[in-house]
Amino acid sequence: MKGYDLFSLDEDTRYQLLISCVIPRPIAWVMTKGKNDYLNLAPFSFFNLITSDPPLLFLSIGRRDNNVLKDTTRNILENKEFVVNIPSKEFAKLVKLTGKALPYGESEVEKFNIPIEKSFKVKVPRVKGIPFALECILEKHFTLGDDTDPMDIIVGKILYVYANENYLKNPKGILGRLGGKSFTVINEIFEL
Ligand SMILES: Cc1cc2nc3c(=O)[nH]c(=O)nc-3n(C[C@H](O)[C@H](O)[C@H](O)COP(=O)(O)O)c2cc1C
Repeated sequence: MKGYDLFSLDEDTRYQLLISCVIPRPIAWVMTKGKNDYLNLAPFSFFNLITSDPPLLFLSIGRRDNNVLKDTTRNILENKEFVVNIPSKEFAKLVKLTGKALPYGESEVEKFNIPIEKSFKVKVPRVKGIPFALECILEKHFTLGDDTDPMDIIVGKILYVYANENYLKNPKGILGRLGGKSFTVINEIFEL
């Protein structure tokens, strides 16, 4: 057995340890609209529901070098609307690919030819064929941590849920994030 004092670890070791212990984490594959209506898509696993009444979720988004906002944060602050897509295994490669930064204004949806379809309550579309999509508006934004390298915390109010009935009945195949570069899928379900 080994113990770890988080405050004696360097930033990357601390990150690797935490993401290896809090598992599996759900993946928010977040679609936003930016300048000139371009569509941005990026995955975030520091994500979960906060409450169901009111229906709120959070995303925890880091900054780029020189304190620059990630495109997802920038678009949500500008347009207020976003869609959290919950991916299954068939989307795993695209989830990974859209986790790499593109210059602001370049669309992952266009670059990787990701099919989309209209949402019900927001102007931002969802990924076509996705198991679940949560249509959100920005409820609150605040930062946590060091002013020179803060985390942007986005709290979204969920207005509408799109759900594929098959995945509601049987969520096998939904993707999750583990430590390092590892992913997992739901493959065993039991009731107590
Ligand atoms: C599975 C997965 C989960 C990720 N989770 C997070 C996260 O919780 N917070 C974060 O800031 N970045 C996370 N990233 C990295 C972002 O997806 C990455 O920085 C991306 O380029 C952000 O895109 P954007 O600038 O278009 O918003 C994750 C990447 C992957 C592949």
